[in-house]
Amino acid sequence: LEIAFDKISKYLQYFKVSCRFEFTNLKCTSFHKVHSEFEYCFLKSINRTYKYASLKLLLHQVPVEDCLIHISMQKRLNGYKPFLYNYTMDGCKFMKNPNPGDKVSKFFLSLFRPYSNINHSCPYNNDIIVDKVPISFMNYKLTKILPLPKGDFLITTSWTMKGIHCNDVDVYFSI
Ligand SMILES: *[C@@H]1O[C@H](CO)[C@@H](O)[C@H](O)[C@H]1NC(C)=O
Ligand SMILES: *[C@@H]1O[C@H](CO)[C@@H](O)[C@H](O)[C@H]1NC(C)=O
Ligand SMILES: *[C@@H]1O[C@H](CO)[C@@H](O)[C@H](O)[C@H]1NC(C)=O
Repeated sequence: LEIAFDKISKYLQYFKVSCRFEFTNLKCTSFHKVHSEFEYCFLKSINRTYKYASLKLLLHQVPVEDCLIHISMQKRLNGYKPFLYNYTMDGCKFMKNPNPGDKVSKFFLSLFRPYSNINHSCPYNNDIIVDKVPISFMNYKLTKILPLPKGDFLITTSWTMKGIHCNDVDVYFSI
């Protein structure tokens, strides 16, 4: 499934009315705690304009040399329904040698990359930290770069490392 990111973005821009990003929930699940587990995973509200998301994943079996990330975007109608993206990216391959044409993977990584310690190629030998991704940043990414329409959304990510589906991170938000 190859959807041209720029075309989608332009198309959505056409219908765009001004609105704002808001986190509504963040869910982290570890399926194999022997392999890895979340030390924390939360949204925090400092005041009306400053809210952020943070998480820390403890890697118990390092080095991590392969990582597949299944990503889906969903929009709520009667329940959450597929919306735009549903695909799997090879995280290690992308970090090592990003295909410049793969703007979708680049976009999804960009949602937390500047606030994380993942910005290097595999192997990963340290715990994964995503520190204080603010709503202002997500607002820019999800109403300007990918100008989503109004609604309730869910981005699911499923992480497979060493061939084991070990973690899910689901981000709920509204625009
Ligand atoms: C919200 O909190 C941040 C960080 O402490 C601060 O910089 C900002 O001025 C606050 N905004 C308001 C409206 O109080
Ligand atoms: C994504 O695609 C897979 C099959 O490739 C399907 O099983 C799954 O239900 C889809 N998820 C969404 C949210 O569309
Ligand atoms: C990530 O690393 C690349 C290559 O080292 C660098 O060009 C880029 O600016 C970094 N991005 C962030 C958000 O740190």
